[in-house]
Amino acid sequence: MRMYDIIEKKRDGHPLTEEEIRFFVEGYTDGSIPDYQASALCMAIYFRGMNDQEISILTDAMAHSGDMLDLSRFGTLSADKHSTGGVGDKTSLIVMPIIAALGAKVAKMTGRGLGHTGGTVDKLESIPGYDVTLDGQTFMQQVEDIGISLIGQSGNMTPADKKLYALRDVTATVDSIPLITSSIMCKKLAAGAHNIVLDVKVGSGAFMKTVEDARELATKMTTIGRLCGRNIAAVLTNMNQPLGHNIGNALEVQEAVEVLNGGGPDDMKQVCLALASALASMVFQIPHDEAVQRAEEALVSGAAFQKMVEWIGRQGGDVRYLKDTSLFPKCSCVYEVKATESGYIQSMDAEQIGLCSVLLGAGRATKEESIDPAAGIILNKKIGAPVNKGDVLCTLYTNREAVIPTAEQQYIQAVRIGAEAPEEEPLIYDIIR
Ligand code: URA
Repeated sequence: MRMYDIIEKKRDGHPLTEEEIRFFVEGYTDGSIPDYQASALCMAIYFRGMNDQEISILTDAMAHSGDMLDLSRFGTLSADKHSTGGVGDKTSLIVMPIIAALGAKVAKMTGRGLGHTGGTVDKLESIPGYDVTLDGQTFMQQVEDIGISLIGQSGNMTPADKKLYALRDVTATVDSIPLITSSIMCKKLAAGAHNIVLDVKVGSGAFMKTVEDARELATKMTTIGRLCGRNIAAVLTNMNQPLGHNIGNALEVQEAVEVLNGGGPDDMKQVCLALASALASMVFQIPHDEAVQRAEEALVSGAAFQKMVEWIGRQGGDVRYLKDTSLFPKCSCVYEVKATESGYIQSMDAEQIGLCSVLLGAGRATKEESIDPAAGIILNKKIGAPVNKGDVLCTLYTNREAVIPTAEQQYIQAVRIGAEAPEEEPLIYDIIR
């Protein structure tokens, strides 16, 4: 088999066979197929597309290109969640203990933040003592015993995707539905869970800027997940502004604790309940309404918070910080950003606000940078809120005093104030099962 013939076939708009797709994935992973041929094939896929059969084979081949997590011992009870990435997105810290409190098995590998979006590993590491590096046996035993463990990604998972994503990034082939679908879904297949909920974010802070694009991607990902033998649901959620009020690692843990204790911002709670109930419905094979009721019950009864305390404590985290969040370290500089005009908040550029939190120290612009767990932003006003000149729009928390003028400017530019109250946007656009 020759890579040249595979490129030519796709260039001319023909579907590839299973053998051809696997030949490409294996050859590109082991280095026998060079970058220039892989780039040419990505560009041909970009223009010609792939049918569902081809995408599911590509996804499966990429999932099997490295280590696979075997969760078969948990039968159909294993549950996972994936977010396409947003700002202030601490949903995993809430959804996973809810679903574990209901009896699902959560063995989740999770990532660090990069660019304007945060990562769950960084958030968990802001809890003193929490160990994100459990060995495989300890990780599995914890899930057997208490139903939940979250650790950082380790081992050699989906090397085909690592290489291909980096190549797509520099060859203008990222935004291709077959390539995005296979890239996201191969990682979820390798992570092993039988039931997966996808939080597909839509808006200014998201990878997908329009509901139409997000729906197309979500529909494709659920179809491919199903063809690959998993139960999948996708929830399309609004990311035209940060989720909740807190951005930054320890600040987001504090907000997650508030929600698990029955408080917290309403948008945060609604998105978490939508994700948790979509998962519960699949794991326990129950109707949607019953799943919503059970998820709410886990929150209201305190069972989900108790599960979080059990989980964090078992992984070495100091649970006193969960019981009294005032113990989290504070930043040396706390600065209020004030409105420069009166009116209503019309829109917020969530990506710019995410980048502002990076500047304050809450995230990293490159993989090598370290983060400040205490840094971040608390939003005082969100879209639709009336504001008077001089009102506090947000509070910046940082240990880098010198960045405050730039961060303030960036925040003010990201928030548009106008005379009319804007139309309310949906928080959840759709649920695709
Ligand atoms: N996220 C991924 O993991 N892969 C893509 O291709 C796009 C977004």
